[in-house]
Amino acid sequence: MDSVKQALHLGSSKDATQEPTPEQVSELREKYTQAAQSQVFTFYDSLSTAEKAALFKQLSSFDPSYINTIAAKALAPPKTEPKTDDDDGEAKEPALEPLPESATASILDSKPEDIDKWYASGLDLIAANKVAVVLMAGGQGTRLGSSAPKGCYDIGLPSTKSLFQIQAERIRKVEKLAAKKSGTGVKVVVPWYVMTSGPTRGPTEEYFKEHNYFGLAAENVIIFEQGVLPCISNDGKIILEGKGKVAVAPDGNGGIYNALVESKVLDDMKTRGIEHIHAYCVDNCLVKVADPVFLGFAASLDVDIATKVVRKRNATESVGLILLKNGRPDVVEYSEIDQATAEAQDPKQHGVLKFRAANIVNHYYSFRFLASIPEWAKDLPHHVARKKIPFTDLETGETVKPPKPNGIKLEQFVFDVFPMLELKRFACMEVRREDEFSPLKNARGTGEDDPDTSKRDIMVQGKRWVQAAGATVVSDDPDSGIEVSPLISYGGEGLEKVAGKTITAPAIIDVDL
Ligand code: UTP
Repeated sequence: MDSVKQALHLGSSKDATQEPTPEQVSELREKYTQAAQSQVFTFYDSLSTAEKAALFKQLSSFDPSYINTIAAKALAPPKTEPKTDDDDGEAKEPALEPLPESATASILDSKPEDIDKWYASGLDLIAANKVAVVLMAGGQGTRLGSSAPKGCYDIGLPSTKSLFQIQAERIRKVEKLAAKKSGTGVKVVVPWYVMTSGPTRGPTEEYFKEHNYFGLAAENVIIFEQGVLPCISNDGKIILEGKGKVAVAPDGNGGIYNALVESKVLDDMKTRGIEHIHAYCVDNCLVKVADPVFLGFAASLDVDIATKVVRKRNATESVGLILLKNGRPDVVEYSEIDQATAEAQDPKQHGVLKFRAANIVNHYYSFRFLASIPEWAKDLPHHVARKKIPFTDLETGETVKPPKPNGIKLEQFVFDVFPMLELKRFACMEVRREDEFSPLKNARGTGEDDPDTSKRDIMVQGKRWVQAAGATVVSDDPDSGIEVSPLISYGGEGLEKVAGKTITAPAIIDVDL
């Protein structure tokens, strides 16, 4: 764990201004020399006092030999999977199976009374102030190409609400629904822990302050920061982004586990008596934040992790799959399975893929499980993301923007923890894609997972809700719809007053009817 701690950079980004002593510098330089990473000191002597102090501080936050170890492991992961049980000592292809029925439920074909039961028990947990939400918002959103954090992005809804605002309002609404159900008058709070990273923390904090936390109490929106790791060149060297600065990148959404401990989020949860946690990604505009059905489902099974999935569209869709690998819950990337596996049919349901549980990174955790992070976080592997990383030429001191990938970022994946669980501690809930999953990944105009598809999916969902409540919607454009404010309806409920009305889309429902 110590080396993990050393590799993280969790403090604030305030620059120290005091120049380190020659002894301190030589000690640190020696550490980097031992690890064959002394190039990071190339320009040290030419830097100003403040720059020296800043570089010293940055370099002190990493353990170069640990960085070497994880980079080497990530670049040369074991070629074969852990052996399946066999006598000949030969490594075998991993055994893949869908999760068994005992560990799964589907909103698509569960009995309505089961869904109602989970919903009611989830609301009770929320009303008892036992539920918290963790948002993963530390990514750099490079494909979207916005300079602001992704959560600030206005996807073009009539209300101009950002992803953060939509999610905040869903929390406010679910708190209200829970308070109403309990009827005790006890204040219901779902604390929202927002994980940011070096690049997104400052602007995220500013944004929430500027918008008065979208009506949530500031003390219940806890913004914390995940770690960063140095970027590494293709030949294994730590890259300098400037003469006095190492190029770093957030350590992946799996950095959440260390960050929950290091940032004292778990301590805060403990103080508040939190027992159930919903964790999700910032880019899903349809996310049901603190979904009572999901919480009730997971809590009723007494699992440590539950995950939502959507049905894989077809055998070739590029999605990760949640399944059993060598008897353990796991995620397998689409590139890791062969065509026959991808195309295999469910023997029990005609025309349905056998392996169809598409991963949408939307999880339930028990607090008891998160409390055990220090026991296993060091075992989470790092993965390699090959990127174009601007660097400082060590000969000339010039900044170079490479035309093709010149190095790697090291990332942990949030779902790498799944195989650590026994199957009885894991569950999976299939949800409707059109109701719960529409990620914002790409820039406008891409036509897939972009701001227009996000907007469309919210508007069309709102249209379905008001139609189900008995309204008639008229419009020339099938993609046009109704924006229903989360403050009015969390998941389609509470819209009875539109029954019998005719609404011309696009429209917005944002006041009590
Ligand atoms: P993605 O892997 O899609 O990355 O993140 P991204 O940053 O949003 O976009 P690209 O790949 O740079 O274009 C999935 C989720 O994981 C979070 C993101 O904020 C998003 O919610 N994430 C990713 C983190 O919280 N930390 C990370 O280091 C990486």
